Amino acid sequence: MLLQDILSRKLPPVLPYNFKASDWEAYRQDMIRRFAKHEYGFLPDAPEAVRSETVLTEEKAWAGKAVHSETALSFDTPRGEFSFPVHLVVPYQQQPLPLVIYLSFTPYPAGKYGPIEEIIDQGYALAVIDYQELSKDEDDGFTSGLAAMYDRSQDEGSMWGKISMWAYGASRVMDYVQTLPEIDKRRIYCVGHSRLGKTALWCAVQDTRFAGAGSNCSGCSGVAVTRNKKGELIEDIVTRFPHWFCENYRQYAGAEDKLPFDQHQLVALMAPRPFFVCEAEDDIWCDPESEYMSLYLASEAYHLLGVDGLVGNRDYPPVGRALTAGKLGYRLRGGNHFMSRHDWLMYLQFFNEQAVKK
Ligand code: GCU
Repeated sequence: MLLQDILSRKLPPVLPYNFKASDWEAYRQDMIRRFAKHEYGFLPDAPEAVRSETVLTEEKAWAGKAVHSETALSFDTPRGEFSFPVHLVVPYQQQPLPLVIYLSFTPYPAGKYGPIEEIIDQGYALAVIDYQELSKDEDDGFTSGLAAMYDRSQDEGSMWGKISMWAYGASRVMDYVQTLPEIDKRRIYCVGHSRLGKTALWCAVQDTRFAGAGSNCSGCSGVAVTRNKKGELIEDIVTRFPHWFCENYRQYAGAEDKLPFDQHQLVALMAPRPFFVCEAEDDIWCDPESEYMSLYLASEAYHLLGVDGLVGNRDYPPVGRALTAGKLGYRLRGGNHFMSRHDWLMYLQFFNEQAVKK
């Protein structure tokens, strides 16, 4: 039962007492700084310009249904130019088209999680970022890729970890696609799975050019409420993946109650934009119930702004029931930790429905 579970966790409230909607954006910025300081680390400012050089164009890709291009994006950093590739697939359909910026575990087009043909068949363009092109997913002392371009010698515990770096990369792709007439700038979304689901949420919270986001099986330090969650805890995550976060986060290992926030407050910072979460029944490590709770509580911020957040009841929803009536959506499927074709279709359908409602 959700309500009893919420009460037993002693969670920080989403909004301060007697809060006014007119204070929302200032509060949001304040909370973003808090999450940066204690969890993900601060991102540098956006570069003045992002340059692009298209190195490959494949007309009639994917059974002739789309054009595929590979473009090198580059921008200035304190230690010179940094460059990374992005792959864009734009279907031959009526333009401008909605776009998903997809943080991928693998280079284009490989990978079990990216059903490119299904995505373009839904009338979406797709930008694929191979996340390790931004910085290696290793505890490498921040020596690879983007990490190496910034001095960390003065780090007092809140300099960016890799999740922030990957989020920063997705925002640079966002800069680039602003220049493309084939893309509908009002309908650009960010989607990722697992560690990249954490990244998609953190990215879209900060970068309001994203019309919405989808976070797949993101679990601990993603969508799931941290206090008393099942499965992975801060201690587990900072031991195995210290490089994902800023150093300050480590002090909360085994001390979740001391965190000056919880993850439902991060989800709330998406308000009033659409945000969809897919979870899997057997994904105990993530804890689907703690993710549902997070959306349920975050809805308060949506209500403040005059829209529905999660439209669901006070019990955990059963497998297969998609809750899509509000701006926060949730769907639990059978099976385990994975980003399935069905999950993808759920995200796209949800984004479509939300765009119509606007
Ligand atoms: C590990 C980690 C999770 C993470 C996942 C992934 O299981 O503990 O926090 O989400 O890897 O990114 O695949």
